[in-house]
Amino acid sequence: MFSKKTVRDIDVKGKKVLVRVDFNVPIKEGKVTDDTRIKAAMPTLKYMLDQDASLILFSHLGRPKGGPDPKYSMRPVADHLAGLMGKPVKFVDDCVGPQAEAAAKELKPGEILLLENTRFHPEEEKNDMNLAKQMASLADLYVNDAFGSAHRAHSSTEGVAHFLPAVSGFLMEREIQYLGQAIANPERPFVAILGGAKISDKIGVIKNLLKISDQILIGGGMANTFFKAQGYSIGDSLVEDAALDTAKELLQSGSSQLRLPVDVVIADKAESDATIKVMPMGPVPDGWKILDVGPETVASYAKVVKDAKTVVWNGPMGMFEVPEFSKGTFGVAQAVAASSAVSIIGGGDSVAAINKSGLESKITHISTGGGASLEMLEGLTLPGVAALQDK
Ligand code: 3PG
Repeated sequence: MFSKKTVRDIDVKGKKVLVRVDFNVPIKEGKVTDDTRIKAAMPTLKYMLDQDASLILFSHLGRPKGGPDPKYSMRPVADHLAGLMGKPVKFVDDCVGPQAEAAAKELKPGEILLLENTRFHPEEEKNDMNLAKQMASLADLYVNDAFGSAHRAHSSTEGVAHFLPAVSGFLMEREIQYLGQAIANPERPFVAILGGAKISDKIGVIKNLLKISDQILIGGGMANTFFKAQGYSIGDSLVEDAALDTAKELLQSGSSQLRLPVDVVIADKAESDATIKVMPMGPVPDGWKILDVGPETVASYAKVVKDAKTVVWNGPMGMFEVPEFSKGTFGVAQAVAASSAVSIIGGGDSVAAINKSGLESKITHISTGGGASLEMLEGLTLPGVAALQDK
């Protein structure tokens, strides 16, 4: 199924290995606040260290524009990684250039070096081959374990693979295996649950899932646009008027698979002290907003999920940051966790909901990729994967 070479297929013993990781993690006051992505890359790192490789790690962090910006420095990640690995992590404040070259050259077997944010070079996002060549000059081999960034064709994710023997890490392999299997050859019934604010972000995903899934359960703000396309008044709810025609087309082409909420939670404002009501889906009065799916919807979605053999979930069912509007999202989280189906969750918000519910261990695969997992569900080829050597 996974057709690319991995670190298992090459000899890393005593080699200098340039490892693209996705350490784009949240940082507050100089401290990493969620290290899921760092921990997810550790099996690959440990495997190579056990073979006396020297590891030169690099990643982007955030979206700095136009050059170095201390707000997006990788330095806090170096400290955090050192704690997790139980050994020092050297740090250089550039990802190419004389300092990085010297540090890479001096690196001994079993040592780790983390380079500064790749996006401090604006050429990175242009997949500049000159930058990629400089990156490649630091090492003997390239390993890409940055699934979360594999949908980006950047110098560090795609370009560099043209200048070194390039293989996949274990995290990349696992992500592609689960998501790839779900879209190429799912055990049926295959049910997708899609939420989040906008239809426009997920049109490609819905179109592709209409071809391959048995049912698509819709929730979140995007349901409102479908409701409006069906002719309902939706009060003051969030809506994407520009996507109404698309919503109509999707409703028509997917009439047998797309399911919309049958009841909704409405409120006069999106805050905890709002006046809140539950209503069967119907005209929503002016001055009211739909902020979550209702209990009937959760029960009916839970039933579909219970009978499924494969479930993919991306996006919350409502404004789950506010506890009063989080029941739909947490209800769906519980249903997915309770189901015996192969379950795959992607996207920051749905993953956060699962983590908050303490149900992570009940999920078959929690993806570290947001945009990357959506592009896979859309059936697209990820450039960071395509650039790796075939088996
Ligand atoms: C992510 O967080 O989804 C990845 O790290 C990619 O980040 P980007 O959307 O800024 O390219």
